[in-house]
Amino acid sequence: LRVGVLASGRGSNLQALIDACADPSFPVEIVHVLSNSAGAYALERAEQAGIPTSLIRHKDYPSREAFDAAVDARLRDAGVGFVCLAGFMRLLSEGFVRGWEGRMINIHPSLLPSFKGLHTHEQALTAGVKLHGCTVHFVRPALDDGPILAQAAVPVLPEDTPDTLAARVLEQEHRLYPLALRLIAEGKAVIDGDIVRITGAAA
Ligand code: GRF
Repeated sequence: LRVGVLASGRGSNLQALIDACADPSFPVEIVHVLSNSAGAYALERAEQAGIPTSLIRHKDYPSREAFDAAVDARLRDAGVGFVCLAGFMRLLSEGFVRGWEGRMINIHPSLLPSFKGLHTHEQALTAGVKLHGCTVHFVRPALDDGPILAQAAVPVLPEDTPDTLAARVLEQEHRLYPLALRLIAEGKAVIDGDIVRITGAAA
């Protein structure tokens, strides 16, 4: 599977995917890493791993659609067949999402469909849930929506702050994202309407 990763920030999930790809039995090659933000540490991580990178600044484009078209063209030029969003902090237009439907996944730091959007750990603490976690899902045009591929849960502890909870979830993100991508690369995840059926593997 020829994967492109879109990332805006520190790129720790990108790093988890890069590390997974070091195992020759992991059936994925990260062929391109693209960021909308010049300061993204994700770009440095990609360069250190010898992966070609692009910086496409959203500020250089007159509209969301124009930015998305530039991203789309770059991914296709790089021979990307599947997209992983890893902390990509731009909303993607419906046209872009439709173009990659069934071939683009995201990792979100909550147990969807709870706590969409930003500040998910604060949202979880405010709601008083006792379990929290992360979700890998196929991307649909609505924010943090789409067929769920895999989830991991962590306990919420009485003394948790958003930061301690975020750290506990992040550890699981780094485990879950490669696992979810492997399911796809091995053909074990099939979209069936609004859900994903997993065959021949434990998620
Ligand atoms: C992660 O918490 C991810 O779930 C969310 O954005 C954060 C990105 O972190 N979508 P990193 O850049 O992968 O370290």
